[in-house]
Amino acid sequence: MKPERKNDRLWGGRFEKAPDERFDAFQRSWTFDRRLLPYEIAVDRAWAKALQGVGIFTETEVRQTLVALDKIAERGRNDKAWLDSSTAEDVHQFVENALVEELGPLGWKLHTGRSRNELVATDFRLFVIEAIADIRKALLALLQTFLLQGKANLKVPMAGMTHLQHAQPILLSHFLMAHAEAFSRDLARLQHAAASADACPMGSGALAGCSFAVDRNALARELGFSRITPNSLDAVSDRDFALDYLFALTGIATHLSRLAEDFVLFASQEFSYVVLPDEYSTGSSLMPQKKNPDSWELLRGKSGRITAALFSLFTTMKGLPTSYQRDLQEDKEALFAAHDQMENMLWVAQGALAATKFRAERLCAAASNPALFATDAADYLVLKGVPFRQAHDLVGKVLREAEKQGKPWTQLTLADLQKISPLFESDFLQNPSVENAIASKAIPGGTAEESVRAAIAQLELKLKQLEN
Ligand code: ARG
Repeated sequence: MKPERKNDRLWGGRFEKAPDERFDAFQRSWTFDRRLLPYEIAVDRAWAKALQGVGIFTETEVRQTLVALDKIAERGRNDKAWLDSSTAEDVHQFVENALVEELGPLGWKLHTGRSRNELVATDFRLFVIEAIADIRKALLALLQTFLLQGKANLKVPMAGMTHLQHAQPILLSHFLMAHAEAFSRDLARLQHAAASADACPMGSGALAGCSFAVDRNALARELGFSRITPNSLDAVSDRDFALDYLFALTGIATHLSRLAEDFVLFASQEFSYVVLPDEYSTGSSLMPQKKNPDSWELLRGKSGRITAALFSLFTTMKGLPTSYQRDLQEDKEALFAAHDQMENMLWVAQGALAATKFRAERLCAAASNPALFATDAADYLVLKGVPFRQAHDLVGKVLREAEKQGKPWTQLTLADLQKISPLFESDFLQNPSVENAIASKAIPGGTAEESVRAAIAQLELKLKQLEN
């Protein structure tokens, strides 16, 4: 049953000529906004009931509309060819066409009092809310893996670095938990983005609001939103929720990229701190010996796309007049792509981290170079009342003397040391060790084992609370 209308567009009434073919393809969004179909149908269902509330739909009409919408949803899930073959301009026209196929002119009634401008904003908000839940799950899994690796490596010292130069010994667990802390901040950003998307625009009309007194709060509740958008003009203009989500994703991407950089370095022959898992590495078509850290390199590489999506939408938004503009249609593709990419990235990072074996002997050997305890040696003098700058200078002299003698400073004799300063006493040479250097940082947030254990416990608790 296909009732008569002048053409099959949603807006054809005032037009004499059909659109230019290239332009027509250019302006369509169905190829990508079809992804919003389940949300569009949910909004349609709620809207049908809202229209009944204001006497536009009878009970029978609502029932018929809901049955038809369910049928469309079901077919949409199972009949890809049906979706592929549609010439609809966008997801909104797709559903309207399908409704008219099912119901005849009743299918045209559903668009009473509403606009695609608010529909697309509502659909997109619902998508973003669900997308955030998926990313959150993957991020929590990554954080759990950090906790597992952190607990497994509580006894392994490594050379902590600044400027990529060996600096002071730390625990490998402390290093892993540093990354975990960064990712745990991303959880908070995701939460903020979800709160930002959690407002229902329906009832905003094209820009001015709806002249039928639909119950906006009931509509919002039915769709799972906890509030309504407060201004109809802002509601159709606003994509801050999408920007907030992309910002959260960019934070994760940045953290993944930095983690990846650490692991690419650690996998190099010069470091040899990790054994790359076969399952997350590839080889060379030419050099048989090669095992490359491609999972980490791709994580580092792909993070650029996520940041690009954020910049892309910011650039689109800048300078738009208030209200709906067609430019806003450009919000979706980059966000969909960034979301899909990020979900893969997080699961790959989680898998690669879980499968990584750390080479404790290499890590420990690098951390055990006495040069890395030089700061602790200065602290020894500080405890004897020497001002730090002077202590730093004296230890510098000790290091110079050791270099002259071609041995580590811990192997200088007491006589050598006392020539530099009588403040060096026999206990000075009993002290320096990688274990002591680490154990002395027992302050909260420090690298001593008890501090790292406390940090692990704290993050564990935080994640447990989030899971409930
Ligand atoms: N497809 C559009 C979008 O994604 C929604 C349609 C609004 N079109 C319009 N001419 N007002 O933003």
